[in-house]
Amino acid sequence: MVSYSTAMTTNSLISPSITSILPGGAFCRLGILASGSGSNFEAVAQAIKNGQLNAQIQVLIYNNPDAYAAVRAENWDIPAVLLNHRDYKSREDFDAEIVRTLQKYNVEWVVMAGWMRIVTQVLIQAYTDKIINIHPSLLPSFKGASAIEQALASGVKIAGCTVHIVRLQVDDGPILMQAAVPILPDDTTETLHQRIQIEEHRILPAAISLAIKAE
Ligand code: GAR
Repeated sequence: MVSYSTAMTTNSLISPSITSILPGGAFCRLGILASGSGSNFEAVAQAIKNGQLNAQIQVLIYNNPDAYAAVRAENWDIPAVLLNHRDYKSREDFDAEIVRTLQKYNVEWVVMAGWMRIVTQVLIQAYTDKIINIHPSLLPSFKGASAIEQALASGVKIAGCTVHIVRLQVDDGPILMQAAVPILPDDTTETLHQRIQIEEHRILPAAISLAIKAE
């Protein structure tokens, strides 16, 4: 019988270690893009409130009218702007409107926190090396929309999450931080995602802090 409990309760599976990242550094204005629940948006807002991240969220942009992220933004008194991708002729037109909105709110760094849209050169060029994404796998494994399902189907024993700088290729770009999460014998997509999200909420604010300090 294999016990996973020790490995699951330590931070040593996060690299680089969060304890090596000191709070502080230059202040930064963030724009967050979210498509769904927005728990990662919430983790960033909480880290700012706790003084772990020297930043301010200028705006949340969401693309699904019923995204719970918008409710969270309202609770935090953060402006939320709905840009529905279905209203635009092309991905480029949609991204151009996103860029206009980010600029209107004086955003310096963009965080894709559960943003389920493929981004184009229009967004990448406007914020070169200043777009951060969180993905629920240990990249470069399991890119795309169903990362957790892919991990379970593949038979790997360790899953996780990655925060990286965004490049044009989907789920690609320099890795800022990763956390490993053991897969348990009875895991479903939901149970594994829940444990991955605990780690996401730890590493996303820390990786943002790392990125803005390295600038
Ligand atoms: C997160 O698990 C994030 O890693 C994933 O969407 C979820 C959003 O959760 N992102 C992707 O799959 C991007 N390829 P949240 O809305 O509760 O933050």
